[in-house]
Amino acid sequence: MKELSDLPIGIIDSGVGGLTVMDELLKRMPNEQFLYIGDDARCPYGNRSPQEVAKFTFELISALNDFGVKMVVIACNTATAFALEHVRPLFDFPIIGVIEPGARTAVEKSVTNQIVVLGTSGTVKSQAYDQAILTLAPDASVRGLACPEFVPIVERGVYKLEEADRVVEQTLAQLADETFDAVILGCTHFPLLSHFIRKHLPIGTELITSGSATADTTIRILDELQLNRESLTEPQSIFYTTGNPAHFELIVKDWLHIANPVVEKLVL
Ligand code: DGL
Repeated sequence: MKELSDLPIGIIDSGVGGLTVMDELLKRMPNEQFLYIGDDARCPYGNRSPQEVAKFTFELISALNDFGVKMVVIACNTATAFALEHVRPLFDFPIIGVIEPGARTAVEKSVTNQIVVLGTSGTVKSQAYDQAILTLAPDASVRGLACPEFVPIVERGVYKLEEADRVVEQTLAQLADETFDAVILGCTHFPLLSHFIRKHLPIGTELITSGSATADTTIRILDELQLNRESLTEPQSIFYTTGNPAHFELIVKDWLHIANPVVEKLVL
């Protein structure tokens, strides 16, 4: 029987966004294997009801459970906001999300504690970041801005084109009268647009992503449970998408710089 520590770490997202979190995990845990599921066929999650997002999240984690994983990272803010607390008690392995790590990083990096959260409509409406930030810094002010056009741009793979620049500029113009010193990319798809986001924010604004802090939490949990992979064989990660594997593979290659990723179709 396979050692528990040899099992991969599961990662889920509505699509390719979780790759931005996986990027950090891969850099920090080079001996671990990852099993990624992107639910591209049903993306975006950001304008779906909390019940639907919770149901989809349960389905993805159940698929990981069937494959065999030692822990799960919900690398999707919308799913973290609507499903983390529901799914945690239903599985035997640890499950973490990306909102608390992102909020923690923002509070550490912001000097004025005036923080903007860019997210999907669902994440902004849920106020999950507001709650997480105010728990850590009760005097903070949090302004959420829904950016519903960002995820489709990333999923279509046009995140480097002028069209993306224009949409980011128009969306962020809504912050023109606001005062803040830190902006959380509260959707894991948004780091793929960070070059344009940075361009249209005041110089000196801290741009916060949750990947690095999520990696800290993952490492701590594996250490505590003594589940670090010790095998000396080359680690092999696998990507599953409910959408188009050829399109998904292009984004994996571009973002993670993996020459020949294993990308397969998943039918739920
Ligand atoms: N990447 C996801 C997030 O972090 C969800 C995007 C979506 O499907 O709307 O919220």
